[in-house]
Amino acid sequence: METRTARIGIIGMGYVGLPLALLFSSERFQVTGFDIAPDKVKTLNAGGSYIVRILSSEIQQAQKAGFSATADYSQIARMDAVIICVPTPLNEYHEPDLSYVTGTVESIAPHIHDGQLIILESTTYPGTTEEIVAPRLEAGNPRGLKVARGSEDSGVHLAFSPEREDPGNDTVARHDIPKVVGGCGQTASALAEALYGSIFRRVVPVSSPSVAEMTKLLENIYRCVNIALVNELKQLCMKMGIDIHEVIDAARTKPFGFQAFYPGPGLGGHCIPIDPFYLSWKAKQFDFRTRFIELAGEVNMAMPYFVIDQVAAGLNEHSKSIKGAKVLVLGVAYKRDIDDLRESPALTIIELLREKGAFVAYNDPYFPSVGRGRHYDLNMTNTPLDNLDQYDAVLIVTDHSSYDYKAIVEQSRLIIDTRNATKGIESAKIVRC
Ligand SMILES: NC(=O)c1ccc[n+]([C@@H]2O[C@H](COP(=O)([O-])OP(=O)(O)OC[C@H]3O[C@@H](n4cnc5c(N)ncnc54)[C@H](O)[C@@H]3O)[C@@H](O)[C@H]2O)c1
Repeated sequence: METRTARIGIIGMGYVGLPLALLFSSERFQVTGFDIAPDKVKTLNAGGSYIVRILSSEIQQAQKAGFSATADYSQIARMDAVIICVPTPLNEYHEPDLSYVTGTVESIAPHIHDGQLIILESTTYPGTTEEIVAPRLEAGNPRGLKVARGSEDSGVHLAFSPEREDPGNDTVARHDIPKVVGGCGQTASALAEALYGSIFRRVVPVSSPSVAEMTKLLENIYRCVNIALVNELKQLCMKMGIDIHEVIDAARTKPFGFQAFYPGPGLGGHCIPIDPFYLSWKAKQFDFRTRFIELAGEVNMAMPYFVIDQVAAGLNEHSKSIKGAKVLVLGVAYKRDIDDLRESPALTIIELLREKGAFVAYNDPYFPSVGRGRHYDLNMTNTPLDNLDQYDAVLIVTDHSSYDYKAIVEQSRLIIDTRNATKGIESAKIVRC
């Protein structure tokens, strides 16, 4: 690692794996990206990017430093360290779907070798690395390699290290985000620390993979619960005629013991709506109910329905019903200034509006179209941001910074603002919720 001769394989060239590959590459490591999606492999090898915030020039720069992509798992045998960044979603029963992790581990097991370092980065419940990954690596390799549990050099060295990326947040450079690492043995911990220490300024070793897995869940559950708290308080504040945003702005002047969280139309993204339920599921094995997680989930999942109620109330003031109304949804990404739709509350809101008989259009500079995903099938294309007075309501779901909110308010008949995007604009047309 010190001499940069170690070869790094990163599995899953998505929002987590691809930036990580580029980071290692920029630190002069030879990096190979693995992905089962042939179009991603093809795009990367042609020097292109499919993630808005990653420029093609960055891929091309990495290529010059030796980066390439492949779908061929036999290449794992050439790697000194392998980092797994594949999805960990929930299934239709809201239970962990570890099929991408198990699929990956079963595919690489035949190709692993003695002394290799393997790290799982996908967010998951405590115990996954030890209980799911380790036995599959051991069972699937023909040479009978074992996961090293102590300070021995031989065997496969296995660790967990959570990803802490915050998409769209440029306030902290990636290498300044401390990296938590927990190995199955001392050698695994030391190797993982050395690997990440070469690209991150600070590595935080913990005593086991389970501690590292739980650390990530604590961070995300903390967000989920606090967002639920402000979502609930927002509803109370609205009834009391108090502006929750003014309250939060005042509270955040306290220099200790308070961190600001903001209400919105519901949770989105691959992490906060999903990860807490990995722990709830695992807790059942210990006959334990994670009540905070369930309550926060209940409050946050109800938010899109609350937004629909506000749209109905706003239209009602104009003697209109949702049925037959023309509604423009502004922003479908799950949060501001990113090109990620996963679990976005906009998807649920559009479906609910349609179910109630509204004619729904959307505008989002990041999505020319919205087709079909795991939980939705919308088949829509982006609508230009003009003739806003043709809509009965304009519903701000995602507050992209490229929008000119003053102009939008001026041109619209009714604005439902779920993000406080129109802060400072005085108009009777605005319903803030
Ligand atoms: N996106 C984030 O902001 C973020 C932040 C922190 C943690 N995480 C966690 O990181 C993990 C990855 O998330 P992501 O957002 O990068 O997902 P993603 O869907 O963007 O990327 C995953 C990639 O893995 C590929 N893949 C799936 N199965 C594979 C297999 N068997 N072999 C090779 N490639 C395979 C997919 O084709 C895809 O390109 C998840 O566990 C997620 O919870 C994500």
